[in-house]
This record gives sequence, structure tokens and C-alpha cells, in this order.
Amino acid sequence: MCGIFGCISQHSQNLIDKTLQGLKILEYRGYDSAGITYHNAKTQTNTETKLTTIKSVGDIEQLISKVKNHPQTTVCIGHTRWATNGEVNINNSHPHLSYNNEIAVVHNGIIENYSECCDLLKANDIKLKTPVDTEVIPNILYLLHDNKHNIHKYLQGQYVFCATDIYSKNLFLAKKGNLPLYIGRDNDTIYITSDTLALPTSTNEIVALDDLDTCEIIDNQILFFKENQSIKKSWQPFNQSFIASDKNGFSTYMEKEINEIPDIMQRIISSYSTDKTILQQIQALRAQIKNSNCIHICGCGTSYHAALILSKVFEKELQIRTIAHVSSELNQTTLLNEKALAIVISQSGETADTLACMDILQNQKIPIIALCNITTSTIAKRSEITFPLLCGPEIAVASTKVFCAAILIGCLIIKNYTQKIHNEFIQNTRKTLQNARKILHFPNTNDFSKIFIIGKGIAHALALESALKIKEVSYIHCEGYPANELKHGPLSMVDTTTLAITIGDNVSNTAAEIQARGGTVINLPIDNKNPLNFIGQIIPVQIFALDLAQSKNINPDKPRNLAKSVTVL
Ligand code: F6R
Repeated sequence: MCGIFGCISQHSQNLIDKTLQGLKILEYRGYDSAGITYHNAKTQTNTETKLTTIKSVGDIEQLISKVKNHPQTTVCIGHTRWATNGEVNINNSHPHLSYNNEIAVVHNGIIENYSECCDLLKANDIKLKTPVDTEVIPNILYLLHDNKHNIHKYLQGQYVFCATDIYSKNLFLAKKGNLPLYIGRDNDTIYITSDTLALPTSTNEIVALDDLDTCEIIDNQILFFKENQSIKKSWQPFNQSFIASDKNGFSTYMEKEINEIPDIMQRIISSYSTDKTILQQIQALRAQIKNSNCIHICGCGTSYHAALILSKVFEKELQIRTIAHVSSELNQTTLLNEKALAIVISQSGETADTLACMDILQNQKIPIIALCNITTSTIAKRSEITFPLLCGPEIAVASTKVFCAAILIGCLIIKNYTQKIHNEFIQNTRKTLQNARKILHFPNTNDFSKIFIIGKGIAHALALESALKIKEVSYIHCEGYPANELKHGPLSMVDTTTLAITIGDNVSNTAAEIQARGGTVINLPIDNKNPLNFIGQIIPVQIFALDLAQSKNINPDKPRNLAKSVTVL
């Protein structure tokens, strides 16, 4: 959550534009407010350096419209916010400045000893202007003065931040815990970003900060420290092949990403049948499975729903007890026996709840396998084996293509399917996409106040994911339910304003019960001819959710209150 982007160069150039472009790409990480701070270039009449800060409430477009004339500069830092503490307003948005406006900070994460920090600042007569934890950072940096590499001794929690000040025109970075922060460079600029996706295509090398690192960027020198000692870090070659702003002719990323599903399914089948590294990983996993008597599959939100489906597939195919967990519900008391194996599913690879769940699994020495879209992420790095989801970046907040990818990969890593099954599945997925709006008719009226989605078995898990997608982008209350359970309570909710989507052809009793109470029922047939076909059945619901959002003038790429990468507990 929240995005950090900054640039520093030895010669004055349009770094404000570069920062705004970076923030625009990071917007998916939070979009309730944004801001930048840049150094005013020295002029002949003005030798003093000064920081200018511009902030706005709303998405990056609001900020762009406030930044007039875009002066040239050598340093600019920016932030897009998803509020955790302190309401959404200009004052609370980043960058936050020290009391004397000399140091500016953009920050992701939470300062857990905030009140202790406030006491320290109070004892030094420093008054804070906002209730936001970030504001303590520039003020403590001010107190530390030349000892800023000691900052980790003063701050508790998980955080990354980037600071600049009027004294030096340098950048100072720090990281504690799991949150990502990268430095990238091209021939004339150094970039700071919380996601490599935002780096421009000219970037040719990157390096990631590690836990308890600090870093100082002075002109074109990049100096790394751990616990105040200078350290060396190795740079990785970087090639940005993806142009994040490209919607490929679609009006939203969500639609573009749904439309990519058949090609991604094809790409996965091809890589998972031919790529030597992946095939070796599959063999290693299958050996581990043979040694296990229980598999735990963990994830949050859509990734949890993929876990739920895979738990059913694994139990059936492997005949091994397999349990799906919402990551945040796996706790120390969950019975994890010693011959267990864990699989974590994550698009971003940075989800704090899943990382916390990995702490528990690792404490109990349970081997962890990841199904992860971002293979450079923390979750991938902390796993024994990472199976790449091969989806390319997913920008829309609502996860679509990654859901299908995780399920397909889960199926492929435990079982070999014939070429015929693969081919039929791809063809079927293409057909489902083409006919999605015919398969699941959008009702004539969208005059309903609640939606139930019902199904049995895997169709129930698909119903849960469908309900998440619909509520996430349309703001209509929507619940997924096991078909027969409806009559055990929720049926009391059904009235003439209820829409029900039934998944599969084995739920006609429940459909009749809903219709008898005035509810509207539409059916999504499940095609069982091919064992993989159920994966593509989510597509008509994803498109239904998209259409519903657009019929209510909601931008499905940026639903209110949400962010793509949930890096807070
Ligand atoms: C829903 C959605 C979220 C994520 C969840 C986990 O459309 O996108 O529910 O699935 O926040 O995120 P990852 O998969 O990045 O761990």
C-alpha cells in the first residue's frame, strides 16, 4: 500500500515529470492522496536551496493538475497514499516535513512506537502538525543530524522511507522489515521506487534494500550501510519490457487483463511443459508431497479463493489432506504437524498477512512453496521454491488473470494432463471469453440491492470469488454461499430486490426457493467436459462485475478504499 517514487540527477532536468510518471504507475498501490517535494534549482540571484512541496487529495491526475510550469530540478521525491492512520486530507498526505520545513520524507509502512517518538520530539520542543506517524521521521532525522544511519534504533515497525533535505540535496533511504524499496539507475538519473514496475525503460540496473539497510545517494554515488557500517551490494541487470500505461485499446486495465486470460493459460501450459527449471521444480515438489501427510494452502482475498479451489483439487487428486487457510487466520495454535507442506499464493508477493503467516510456518519448520506473480518479491524470496504465475503485471485492483493462473499452475504441478486436455482447455477458455456476455446475461435492470451467488463444491469456491469481484468493483452487497445453506438462514434476506447467480446445474432447488420469494435468478452453466475447464468459468462473472461497475459509473480499476498490494497487517 502506498507508493514511493523519487529521482536524483547530477544535472537539472525534468525530474518532476519523471516522478509524476512513476507515481502514476504506482497509483494502484493507493490513490486517496498524493504529493511531491522537489529542490528549487539555485539561480544566479538565489543561491539558497529550498524545498517545494505540492500535495493533492485524490488520484495522481489531481496532483498533475496542481503542478504548474514543472521547473527543472536535481531532486524530486513523491508518494501516493492509501491512508492507514489519519484521515484522507492534504495535511495528512506525504511528503511530510520536519517542523522547520528543512527535511521531507515519503514513507510506506507503520511506525509502531509512534507515541514514544512523539514523547521524544515533545521533549525537544518539536510540535507535530498531523496525526500521521510518518511525520515523526523527518523530525527524528533532524534531531539525529549527522547520525541519521542510527535511525533504526529510534523507529519500530515495518517501514521504508526516502528523505531529502535542504542542507545537502542528497537522498537518504532506510528499510526495516519486509516492505520493498528499490534503487534503479540509467545513464543520467537514479530512481527510488517501491515497485520496479514504475522504473522507466531506460533503467539498466537495480538493487533492492534489505532489512535494516540505510542508503545515502550523494550526486551519483550510492552508499549502503547496515547498522552504521558501510556495506557493498550487488546490482542486478534490469530490463523493463512492460509499458505499464498501455491498456492495449481497452478502456480499463480490468477488461484488458481479463482479455489476456486465454493467452496466459497458453503461455503457462507451454512453460510448465517445457521450461527445464520449472520441470525440475515440479519434480522437487512432487517428491516433497510424497513425504507429506498434510498440505496447507494459504492466501488472502482472491488468492485465498484460488487456495480453496486447489485444496479441493489436491485432496481429490493426491488423496492427501489439504487445508486452505485465509493467511491471517493461520495462527500459532493451528495444528501443523511435522510432515506438513505449505503453499502460499500471492500476486504481489508483498501481502503482509501472508508474510506473517509465513513467519508462523517457518517457525514450525514447514517447507514453503510459493505460487507468485512477482518473482523478485519478498514472498518469492522467502520460499523454498517459487512457481512463477507468468501473468505480467496486474494493474487493476481487482485480481482476475492471476486467479486463473494460480489455479492452472496448481493443477499442473501435481498432475500431468494430456496434450488433448491442454488444447481443449485453451480453446474452451477462448470461447468462454468471446461469449462471456451471452453465457451470463446481464439482467435488464440493475435495480437490485443485494446479490447471492450460489454453488456446490468447486462452484461454491467460484461463487465466493465471484462475490468478492462483484462487491469490490460495484459496491453492491454480494455474498457467495453453498447452495443448500441458503435455506438455513440467508433465505430470510431474499426479496424482489435480490439477484441470485447460480453456478452449475445442480442447484435448481435453491434457485426455485429464491424465485418463490420474488428474487431474480440467472444461471452460469459449468462445463465439466474437460477437467481444467472450470478455471475459465470465472471469466463471465469477472465481465459481469466489470459491466456492473461501469453501469454505475465506477472505475473498476480503482475501487474506493482499496489498494492493489496490501502491505499492512
Ligand atoms: C481481490 C484482490 C485481493 C487480493 C489480496 C491478496 O480482487 O485483488 O483480494 O487477492 O489482497 O493479494 P496478493 O495476491 O497480492 O497476495
